[in-house]
Amino acid sequence: MKITYLGHSALLVEAEGKSVIIDPFLTGNPNSEVKPADIRVDAVLLTHAHNDHFGDTIGIAKANDCPVVAPVELANYCMEQGVKTVGMNIGGSHQLEGIKVKYTLAFHSSSLTVDDKVIYGGEPAGILLTMGGKTLYHAGDTALFGDMKIIGELNNIDIAALPIGDFFTMGPEDALIAAKWVGAPKVLPLHYNTFPAIEQDVEAFCANLKEAGIEGIALQSKESLEV
Ligand code: NI
Ligand code: MN
Repeated sequence: MKITYLGHSALLVEAEGKSVIIDPFLTGNPNSEVKPADIRVDAVLLTHAHNDHFGDTIGIAKANDCPVVAPVELANYCMEQGVKTVGMNIGGSHQLEGIKVKYTLAFHSSSLTVDDKVIYGGEPAGILLTMGGKTLYHAGDTALFGDMKIIGELNNIDIAALPIGDFFTMGPEDALIAAKWVGAPKVLPLHYNTFPAIEQDVEAFCANLKEAGIEGIALQSKESLEV
């Protein structure tokens, strides 16, 4: 599994000739140097509706003629915009060719703002994505919560992508606890340094992970790692 960081919480994930993009906030993302038109994927996966995650979903789905996999209320909104959708809910899984997604809990909120109108986005979620025999846990936007221990116990997570920005989500202290609870050997920090409110010292976070025996990998925008 190859994971490319596109800034904020956006990840491009590729394995065995298949690719997906998670939370494709590219336009207006100060840390993304990738244009939506350059994205080639088999599906768009969304954790929740907030604009810093929904981003370029509709344009990418239309350009690739690919489905948007999202919590059902958000999927319904996408369907109204004329794209193929898979409407999910917490605890459910879905298998696309070479791509398995399972929706997990996340403690957050979910709404989409379009032309100053606020649209209900359903429940926010995390995503367990299995491709090429490897599993990525993208926690979405979330607070620390105790059931992360259960997510860790029940799943063999190869890499956990966790928000560390604080203010809207877990900060680094809680994300360190989350990293221990989900039990992944590698952690990819997300959702930091995009806006002043979520500026964090990612090197310090990775040093604390290292002390806990976990490899923290802070990718620059467009940088990739292999799991
Ligand atoms: Ni959010
Ligand atoms: Mn967010």
